[in-house]
Amino acid sequence: MSARDGSPRRAPAPEARCTVTVCRGCCCGVAGKIPRLDHEAQLADLRTALADLATVRRSECLDACEQANVIVVQPSAEGRRAGGRPAWLGLVNDRDATADIADWIAAGGPGLAEPPAVLDLYAFRPPRRVRAELESR
Ligand code: FES
Repeated sequence: MSARDGSPRRAPAPEARCTVTVCRGCCCGVAGKIPRLDHEAQLADLRTALADLATVRRSECLDACEQANVIVVQPSAEGRRAGGRPAWLGLVNDRDATADIADWIAAGGPGLAEPPAVLDLYAFRPPRRVRAELESR
């Protein structure tokens, strides 16, 4: 994987990584709500693909249940300095989308690499209160 300038990317130090928050609350990750996806496999795929590149964490309900499954990609420290902001992705109920998220982060993530265009289909903007709550975790 390479950065925007084509140079190879090294695995970032843990404190400098992107953080990927995977909601697994009352609606996200629940087979009764979203039956056509292996939710545990989705989480495992992200953890495997991003093992050395990002912190992948599971969260309780992020208060955007109408968008289940919700995944939030928070920029690395470098990405934030470059203007990257958390990307809220909803209705991530396709394994290909999970792979696209992993590819984006491997390329640098928010602020450092353009997301694959297909991720525009998943992007949404939650209320400010909800965004602030995640930032405080
Ligand atoms: S369970 Fe994911 S937003 Fe509510």
